[in-house]
Amino acid sequence: MFNQIVRFWRRKDTENCAEAEVNELIKRIDKNKLPCHIAIIMDGNGRWALRRGLTRSYGHRAGIEALRDVVRICSELGIGFLTLYAFSTENWKRPQEEIDILMNLLVEYFYKEIDELCENGVRVHPIGRLAELPASARKAIDMAVQRTRENKGLTMNLAFNYGGRNEIVDAVRAIAAKLVNGTLRIEQISEKVISDHLYTAGQPDPDLLIRPSGDLRISNFLLWQLAYTEFWFSSVMWPDFRRIHILQALVDYQQRERRFGGLNKGT
Ligand code: IPE
Ligand code: IPE
Ligand code: MG
Repeated sequence: MFNQIVRFWRRKDTENCAEAEVNELIKRIDKNKLPCHIAIIMDGNGRWALRRGLTRSYGHRAGIEALRDVVRICSELGIGFLTLYAFSTENWKRPQEEIDILMNLLVEYFYKEIDELCENGVRVHPIGRLAELPASARKAIDMAVQRTRENKGLTMNLAFNYGGRNEIVDAVRAIAAKLVNGTLRIEQISEKVISDHLYTAGQPDPDLLIRPSGDLRISNFLLWQLAYTEFWFSSVMWPDFRRIHILQALVDYQQRERRFGGLNKGT
């Protein structure tokens, strides 16, 4: 039943995402000006399902197809880092049944996708408070991390039980511990020291943040790292999100001028 429903919507997607448009967009993209790091808030699963008279869980399941497609295109393009927001520290407020579905989908995703992730050279790097997750979810994440640790392609940061404020709290605690044990002095604390104690230590900040589903907010995502990120919003719900939308975002991103507080060239 579920597969039939998904196949129906998938056919519609294929019609919509005309191959010709994808090829046209690929031609317009300057391969030398790709973002190093893309962050995505995978939002809109529930609304996607409810609009089709389905329960929210169908939306979460359908969202996995979008995840696959987006990881593939980012890998193919040679993007260095892709951070995917899958479960926030605030999502525990949802009904237990929905939380269980999201945990189970995470487990299913990793066991089903691990071979393809390895084939594509993807390295899985979870960000968030993993210790608070159920054992089955921790086990699946550990397996994915171990199996992909030597891979040299796309780094996929999976934000699961992630909160931007919690991340800063964890960094402050780690820095405070070093002050107390004498391995760090107050005057040594700098922006770099703070960045180096975040879950994304050693990685470039996102160049591009994508949020589908029409909501215009960051919902506690990467609060420190998004300081100079370009934002790209779309009304497309996450389960309908495909490579074509990533390519549209990239074309748009490449037309922007990033000034980082400085001035335009020639002004
Ligand atoms: C995103 O979709 C998935 C998670 C937050 C886990 P939502 O479940 O938030 O879908 P909407 O925003 O209610 O449509
Ligand atoms: C953000 O979406 C978290 C994820 C997509 C995982 P939410 O749906 O939880 O955000 P709000 O509640 O609409 O801000
Ligand atoms: Mg939402």
